[in-house]
Amino acid sequence: MKFFIDTADVAEIRALIDTGFVDGVTTNPTLIAKAGRRFEDVIADICALVPGPVSAEVAATSLEGMLTEGRALAKIAPNVVIKVPLTPAGLKACRTLTQEGTDVNVTLCFSAAQAILAAKAGATFVSPFVGRLDDVGETGMHLIHQLVDIFGNYSHLTTQILAASIRSPLHVVEAAIAGADVVTIPPKVLWQLYEHPLTDKGLATFLADWQKTGQALVPAKAGNQTNL
Ligand code: E4P
Repeated sequence: MKFFIDTADVAEIRALIDTGFVDGVTTNPTLIAKAGRRFEDVIADICALVPGPVSAEVAATSLEGMLTEGRALAKIAPNVVIKVPLTPAGLKACRTLTQEGTDVNVTLCFSAAQAILAAKAGATFVSPFVGRLDDVGETGMHLIHQLVDIFGNYSHLTTQILAASIRSPLHVVEAAIAGADVVTIPPKVLWQLYEHPLTDKGLATFLADWQKTGQALVPAKAGNQTNL
């Protein structure tokens, strides 16, 4: 399962690059508004940092508007993926942009029926929003299971299931159990994946016990003696 980072904050992405876990990035208009910078500049900066797919969402709602914006955004860098909403116009834009060789992420997917349309329109990614379904009393992860089952019935389908609206480490684990191709994770949640109190406790004990041995694995350099 690939890890995309769900943010438009370049500093947050930069901090995560060193982990080796950043396969791509997703943004949306809300995240761009939070970043408080010019959209095209943010996308260019992210694409320079991350070689994987970087989703940039159109703001237009008409087919012509989406195509104009999508084509302009796609020129920013070869790894830009155009995000379009799951509407009739959005799916037409998806088909056209895909035929032109641009990767498309169909966003705001809340049902299996919608996802089937996105796949038939040739989407590279479809983004089911797990957390927002949970918010309205549904089990968002059920949709991921459904899509893995449905897409698995058709070996020629290349649309990747991108689990979005991820709110917790449990969502990440459940998306992996379901077999999502990609999960897009807010930076805070990615850092949480490392955490377990027993890891901290165990490490503290091991370090304390190691100190008691009086040993050093690497000969200490003069002026850099941390033990003994
Ligand atoms: C991803 O592409 C979406 O923009 C994002 O995951 C939405 O998450 P939210 O529901 O937490 O805003």
